[in-house]
Amino acid sequence: MKIMNRRDFLKLAGIGAAGAGSIFTLPGAITAALGRGVNPPANDDRFTFIHFTDTHVQTELNGHLGMRKAIQKMNQFDAAFAIHGGDIVFDVFETDHKRADFLYKLYRDELANLKMKTYHTIGNHDVFGISPKSGVKKSDPEYGKKMFMDYLGEGRTYRSFDYGRWHFILLDSIDITSDRSYRGLIDYEQFEWLAEDLQKTGKARPIVIVTHIPLITLFWQIVDARRTPIPPGVAIVNAKKVWDLIEPYNVRAVLQGHLHIREKLEYNNVQYITSGAVCGNWWKGPRMGHPEGFAVIEVNGDELSWRYETYGWKAAVTESDSRGH
Ligand SMILES: [Fe+2]
Repeated sequence: MKIMNRRDFLKLAGIGAAGAGSIFTLPGAITAALGRGVNPPANDDRFTFIHFTDTHVQTELNGHLGMRKAIQKMNQFDAAFAIHGGDIVFDVFETDHKRADFLYKLYRDELANLKMKTYHTIGNHDVFGISPKSGVKKSDPEYGKKMFMDYLGEGRTYRSFDYGRWHFILLDSIDITSDRSYRGLIDYEQFEWLAEDLQKTGKARPIVIVTHIPLITLFWQIVDARRTPIPPGVAIVNAKKVWDLIEPYNVRAVLQGHLHIREKLEYNNVQYITSGAVCGNWWKGPRMGHPEGFAVIEVNGDELSWRYETYGWKAAVTESDSRGH
């Protein structure tokens, strides 16, 4: 049975897709059926979604007000859903329980203003207590990724979902190292899961992969002129292995965060996109000339187009770009 998609329905109803939102008012029940957060018919292949990353929410420097302003702008787009690219909270990795809980709750309170379903990717800042500076013991039941899983990960640190024909994969790129730091890695267990998930999806369906730490980036070539290897915290260290795995599939984009810059590379018809940062230079103005903002992504058939939207944030303090990721 052919399932009617949104445009088919509008055609049938004598409504041009372009005019649907502006000229005609759809009956209440139909509007609800087409509304946000409702999974579309399986063949619906024209929609918009938002990729916002590195909110680093905090009350210092009015970061929460910045996030609120970004959300107001996001709500202006008719997006089906949003994906957060990680580094959701400012410094959960190096603080105690009280501050970590406060930041996750602050984020959740601000997120309540976003009028669309939001999926979350884990970032290095979201992993509780891993820095020795936090004073948190490794034996603490919430040490590590559990806090993220409980607050925002819906019980997981990596997972996938479908929207129409499109398949979305959210990776956990954060490997906690024995010296209580992190590096970019897709670990063995997750790699096995990814292989199975891709196989189930098949080679025809379009796929978007989201990772906090970039899979492919030229960032290090730009910032380091000494020809040192890419540090393990800058990009995924087993990127070649992951690239070999995903390459035969119809991956349309790999969406990345972590670096707080805008970058769009294309290789073998896959776009590797880094979507700046909502917080810019950690709420101290633009970073390396990249302003505070988020990505609006439009899907049409098997094609995907990306653009960066700023939201008019004026940082109270500006600083040079010296801070880490
Ligand atoms: Fe970040």
